[in-house]
Amino acid sequence: ADGRDLAGRHVVVSAGGTREPLDPVRFIGNRSSGLQGYALARTAVARGARVTLVSANVALPDPAGVEVVRVGSAVEMREAVLSAAAGADAVVMAAAVADFRPVDYRESKIKKADGAEPDPIRLVKNPDILAELGDIRRPDQVIVGFAAETDDVLANGRAKLARKRSDLLVVNQVGEDLAFGRPDNAAIILGADGSRTDVPRGAKEALAESVWDLVAARLDRRPAG
Ligand code: C5P
Repeated sequence: ADGRDLAGRHVVVSAGGTREPLDPVRFIGNRSSGLQGYALARTAVARGARVTLVSANVALPDPAGVEVVRVGSAVEMREAVLSAAAGADAVVMAAAVADFRPVDYRESKIKKADGAEPDPIRLVKNPDILAELGDIRRPDQVIVGFAAETDDVLANGRAKLARKRSDLLVVNQVGEDLAFGRPDNAAIILGADGSRTDVPRGAKEALAESVWDLVAARLDRRPAG
């Protein structure tokens, strides 16, 4: 990639993992560290982009030169991503968004009652932010999703790419060797145009650069927004 190929572009990156609150002190969460999303934000700045980073529950310092918007839950992430995406050239959804949230939020801490069994936690589906971006996208935008698959990685990846109407889907193979919290990652990047890019195991920065290579190539082919 040539150095400043994202100059003049505004990109939105989501990072981390959402927390779905049960009561003022408890939530349902996941193990996403935010490392991949932060690597995407840093590398985009280095390539000249203006970057909005929508960050959910990440314990990492703010990357220099990035506008960081902090969110907690999937519903908050949807608000922040959709509002930033409206004027953006590209959106990369690297965050682990909870598929479900508790139906009820208790305003006061849930107590254990003597002898009584706890109430079951009932869940409701969260909005699929990536699918929504695929629906409302302008033709000149580039939309990128991430997917962690354990089996049938390619078939499941292709199906997900089509279902969510993204331009690119970064598919991580997960298994014993989870990508979560590790500094390195390996992936296959599938394109809606049928392309396939294999990124060997390496630093999350290297995967981020491969993502921006593919995004920049697609932006160059499209009329400016
Ligand atoms: O369907 P799945 O959760 O595997 O899709 C993963 C991709 O979709 C990621 O890019 C993630 O950020 C995004 N996603 C989303 N909203 C959800 C669930 C996932 O944007 N509710």
